[in-house]
This record gives sequence, structure tokens and C-alpha cells, in this order.
Amino acid sequence: MALRRFPEGFEWGAATAAYQIEGAWNEDGRGLSVWDTFCRQPGKVFNGESGDVACDHYHRYRADVALMQQLGLQTYRLSVSWPRVLPFGVGEPNEKGLDFYDRLVDELIGAGIQPCVTLYHWDLPQALQDRGGWANRDTAQQFADYGTVLYDKLGDRVTRWVTHNEALITIAFGHLFGVLAPGIRDARVAGPALHHVMLSHGLAVQALRAARPDAEVGITHANTSYEAVDDREESLAALELARDFNTRAYHDPIYGRGYPKTVLAWYESQGGALPIQDGDLDVIAAPTDFLGVNLYSRQRVKADPSVSVGYRNAPPTLPVLDMGYEAAPFALGDFVRWVSAEYDRPKIYITENGVGDDTPKVDGEIDDHLRIDLLRGFLTGLHAAIEDGCDVRAYYVWSLLDNFEWAFGYGKRFGIVHTDYATLERTPKRSAGFYSDVIRQNAVDDDGT
Ligand code: FCB
Repeated sequence: MALRRFPEGFEWGAATAAYQIEGAWNEDGRGLSVWDTFCRQPGKVFNGESGDVACDHYHRYRADVALMQQLGLQTYRLSVSWPRVLPFGVGEPNEKGLDFYDRLVDELIGAGIQPCVTLYHWDLPQALQDRGGWANRDTAQQFADYGTVLYDKLGDRVTRWVTHNEALITIAFGHLFGVLAPGIRDARVAGPALHHVMLSHGLAVQALRAARPDAEVGITHANTSYEAVDDREESLAALELARDFNTRAYHDPIYGRGYPKTVLAWYESQGGALPIQDGDLDVIAAPTDFLGVNLYSRQRVKADPSVSVGYRNAPPTLPVLDMGYEAAPFALGDFVRWVSAEYDRPKIYITENGVGDDTPKVDGEIDDHLRIDLLRGFLTGLHAAIEDGCDVRAYYVWSLLDNFEWAFGYGKRFGIVHTDYATLERTPKRSAGFYSDVIRQNAVDDDGT
């Protein structure tokens, strides 16, 4: 093993999301989100679980920030619950809800940890869903107005903002396959929703520029490093289709290229044409300061003319981890190289990367060596991509704590800190020690590749 040092000033952090950790679902005037509703529908979430309590971070945030400080985190990516701040999505802000984030930000800054705030990590106010949600164009402007509420309240201290977390997942899993909230399976809804989510990003960027010209803003996308099963022409075409639908559909408009033709044609063929109005694409292409990259694995794809999109996922050839992810640590470096080349070397923050690993607590300790091995591999690959000229400035591990893993409930654990859901006690895992060492040295002992 050799020590691979990251560039001077590289930032190390951890990420979470409001609904996954906060709990306090009905306190201090918080409104309902689509996740509160979804969790109450039988059969939607493993074991009928919900984020009602989650990690109870709403009440324990001080201790959690102290833990972050103890681990040596330099930055922390959190998301704000829109319905906690605006219970009905619009109108008068709920001061108590805003105050929570105000105190949290103060606590972080007091601990020397830079906040990175995501506006939207999937918890749309139910009141807006009742009026059509993302399929309703009004939601885009309402999102920007919600952003302005946060920029006004927190923008004197928060200088790093992410608009959306993983629009691909919002659209594909929330509106096409129906496995995440709001549980819709309809391309006629998904097409407009896709466009309005992207439009809302652009409007929120413009609103931030107006309110806080010195702040930096970007968008975070869900990524997979796609690979073709072989070198045949049809397989290589399938690879590009997978990238169009899952990657370019969300990146191209941000970088002024509009949506891929294949994606536009598919939605149109399904009766869900994107309702693009004059000027929308310019709004969406409002310049950003960084690209947020979330990545967990790779995916092999092959041609399949019998499916409407023309390709499908091929079976894994590597060991499969929790949530069906192949153990593919090289995928992070591979994807970063690809996305850097594709979009002219944007400044990148890895806003999520991590490993699901349910190693239990034995004698008070969690020896999650699988997570450590894979994180080491991800970081080795990332380091190599940086050496090759990719402009990566920060890395946020997913996640600080074991938390509510959406439709998987509490059944999947991604934390470097263990959460005991009976007592809500936090116990750093072995991987937390590994990560602290990485931060302290600004370097990783590589995996030998
Ligand atoms: C990402 C989500 C995050 C978490 C991880 C495991 O897609 O952004 O909330 O669920 O996956």
C-alpha cells in the first residue's frame, strides 16, 4: 500500500438528508411531505417504517455536530425539509422550523464545519403534491421562492448550496416506477415533472444570484458508471442510450445543451412530452459553480430492442452489496473521468459516495471492514482521477449516521456511525476511525491498484 495524498485544501465531509435523520415529523408546525404520506400507505416501505423518529436529529443535533467535530469533518452536507420551513409549500415561513436550521448552522460554524445545504432531497410538501407536484409548472417558481426564504435566513453563513438531490431518482423512481414517493407510475406525469424539476433548479440558481451574489451553487445528480457488456456496435449504442436517459438528461440542460433527442422522443412517444416553453432552456442553463456527483456503483448494459428505451441492465458480474449495488470501487474514478471529459472539466464535489453494510454491533463494536475496503478503493480511484486532471475539490461520505433508507426503511445501513434505533444511541464504526485518519492525513492508503 502507498499513501496517496489529496491536493492541498481538499475538503472532507459527510452527507445526510432531512427526512432520513430528523424525525420530529409533527413538531413545531412542520407540514407534511410526500414521504409522510407515502410511508403511511401499506406495502410501500419495508416493515411499514417511516421517518417519524428516524435518528431524532431534530433534538440531538448538538450532540451530532459534536460527533462530526470529533471525527474531524471539515464540511457537512445537510438538506432542509421544505414543509418544515413552509408547511404548505408556499406562504408565510414557519419561524420555528427556520430556527432549527438557524441553530444547526450556528452549531456547525461554531464547530469549524462548513455547511453545504441542499434545498431538496425528495420531501416535497404534500400540499404542493395535491396541486400536481412537479408536474405542475407553478411548483418550479415556488421552489425558487422557498430557496429565497433560506438564502435570506441562512445565506449570511451558508455559502454552499445544492438545488436538487438526484433529479433522476425523483423522476424515475418517484414518477415512472412508483417505488419512492409520491409513488406515481406514469410517463405522462414524469415527462412534465422532469422538465419542471430542471426549470426549478435554474430559477433557484437565479434567485440565489440575486440574493447572495457571493455564494456558490450547484446541482447534485445520481450517477452510475455505465459500461457496455462488450464491444459490439449495438452494445456501445446501448451504453450511450443508458447515459442519455440516466445521465445526460439531467446534465446536458445544465450545461446549455438542452435535453438529449432520444429522451425527448421517448417521453413524447409515451404521451409525456416535456412542456418546454420559450426561454426555459436558458433558465436551466444558468451558470453553476460546481457539479455535485453522487455515485455508488457501476452498471453494465446491453441492447434490447424489445424495451421502449432500447437497452436494459445486464446481470452483475461482481459481488452484489446491499441495495443491489455491485462492489465496484473503480466506478467513482471512472465516472469522474467520464463526466469531466463530457462537460469540459467542471469543478466537482463528490456529494455522496458510500457503502451499505449491515455489520452488526458485537461487544459494543462494529467492525465494518467491507465498508472500509470499498471506501479505500473508491478514494484510490478518485485520487487517480484527480492526478489525471479532474477538478475534484471535496468528498462527502454517505452517510454520517445509519438512517431511514427510504423504501428500505431502517433495513439498510450506510452510516460510518451506527444508530441504535431502540435507544437512538450513536456508536462510531471502525469505518469512522478509517475516515478520520483519511481526513487527518488528507490522504488514503491505497488499495494497491
Ligand atoms: C442516494 C440518496 C441518499 C441515500 C443513498 C444511499 O441515492 O441520495 O438519500 O438513499 O442513495
